[in-house]
Amino acid sequence: MTEQKPEQSNTNDQNLDRLKNMESDDLIGKYFQTTYQPPNLKKAKKRLKKDVDIHYDYDIPEEMKGIGKGKKYLIRTYGCQMNEHDTEVMAGLLTDMGYESTSVAKEADIILLNTCAIRENAENKVFGELGHMKSLKVENPDLILGVCGCMSQEESVVNRILKKHPFVDMIFGTHNIHRLPSLVKEAMFSKAMVVEVWSKEGDIIENLPKARKGNIKAWVNIMYGCDKFCTYCIVPYTRGKERSRLPEDIIEEVRHLAANGYKEITLLGQNVNAYGKDLEFNYGLGDLMEELSKIDIPRIRFTTSHPRDFDDRLIEVLAQGGNLLDHIHLPVQSGSSDVLRIMARRYTREDYLELVRKIREAMPNATLTTDIIVGFPNETDEQFEETMTLIEEVGFESAFTFIYSPRDGTPAAKWEDNIPMDVKKERLQRLNKLVNAQSKEAMDAYVGEVVDVLVEGESKKDPDVLSGHTERNKLVNFKAPKSLIGQIVPVKIHTAKTWSLDGDLVTDTVEV
Ligand code: SAH
Ligand code: SF4
Ligand code: F3S
Repeated sequence: MTEQKPEQSNTNDQNLDRLKNMESDDLIGKYFQTTYQPPNLKKAKKRLKKDVDIHYDYDIPEEMKGIGKGKKYLIRTYGCQMNEHDTEVMAGLLTDMGYESTSVAKEADIILLNTCAIRENAENKVFGELGHMKSLKVENPDLILGVCGCMSQEESVVNRILKKHPFVDMIFGTHNIHRLPSLVKEAMFSKAMVVEVWSKEGDIIENLPKARKGNIKAWVNIMYGCDKFCTYCIVPYTRGKERSRLPEDIIEEVRHLAANGYKEITLLGQNVNAYGKDLEFNYGLGDLMEELSKIDIPRIRFTTSHPRDFDDRLIEVLAQGGNLLDHIHLPVQSGSSDVLRIMARRYTREDYLELVRKIREAMPNATLTTDIIVGFPNETDEQFEETMTLIEEVGFESAFTFIYSPRDGTPAAKWEDNIPMDVKKERLQRLNKLVNAQSKEAMDAYVGEVVDVLVEGESKKDPDVLSGHTERNKLVNFKAPKSLIGQIVPVKIHTAKTWSLDGDLVTDTVEV
């Protein structure tokens, strides 16, 4: 759906005047027709499993090919790997239109903010950035400024942008990414604010172009959306229902990446363990991983796992090792069965511990990492202590920890957020202390060990130092010739830091 601004000016001066006058709320009704239908969160919950179409015929409209020649784009990405990968797709689309990338905002002809809605602070960052963008737009009224990603799926956000940031040229949702060339065209030629947010989840569009970041590691989507509806979480609304890509399409993409020299792929999904549930034949993540393990690519990871759907078949396949890495990110969220119940996680503390036991039995060296939320409504001190004891019991190598943030439209947001902020902060602090101590212990254990490192490039801090990750995803820095970039090499660790390891290349086994 497109919102026409009634005054369509083609000269920079007129645009400038229009922008300068866009402070007042009164203008909204005049500048935007009221045909815009916001995303509907109620409808999102009533979705049907089937009726997803897969499209293989994607192409850039003829008139948009080459339209970006001599122009530049910048995409700022917030949020998870899914968003990082969506950015690669949008970059691919813009590249096919002739645009080149830039990291300098002032040079850009198109700026996209690919947003995240998971917590309030993620959203605040974007609104802050939008504030800065206004001056860029005043300097260069031809700049096309777009907001996309998960925040655009929220009706409150779209309304706020319409009201407070009317200089934005386009807002489009997570199901509208493939429409980018057409949306740019509309924004470019009509000088209209383009708002296109489908609350119906997207179909699956195969063969979209991708401008991948780097040529060593790659993301591969295996499914989209989430049907779990954890009571605190916005993702099922912003990303739509679970839709699995067909195994043959995924396998072909991974083969193609392997043939192009990629060394590591990460399979992506909000809940990868639900892979295949919506397919019309009996096929799951374990089956997919088994097929992928036969492809000649050194490393395959996957994220994120949901404990509820983590089945024995997957454990059995992972235990075969090879190129399937046994680093499992297994968000637990809380150590209290009562809290887990009201979070609608659909497993208990005992179920989780039993799963960990099974994983460790099959893969004694498996690395487990997790996500935790503290200060969920009604979380008592005792329940929080259960989280602390679970962390100790499992011995996670690292954890992402969050203070609960109410998200509009989710069930939990309607409950009283009755834990005072200072209590939440104190719980987070205690939790982080424990998690950091465990991480340190895990890092210290590497000193003196030789680890295999996939060399990804120069270290950010020192161009004479190379850096890369181990199979267990630990960052390692070491001195070595740049010719090793892209290879997997042995490194002997001599120093453990909080977030990284320093080591020396083991030269007798590597040709340098
Ligand atoms: N699909 C993944 C995680 C997606 S979001 C899973 O189910 O595990 C990443 C993490 O953000 C979650 O694991 C959770 O710990 C955290 N999170 C999600 N919603 C949140 C909220 N409303 N407040 C605080 N943290 C939240
Ligand atoms: Fe959110 Fe739960 Fe789905 Fe993860 S499984 S994305 S936490 S609803
Ligand atoms: Fe954020 Fe959307 Fe990912 S809400 S965490 S960018 S799925």
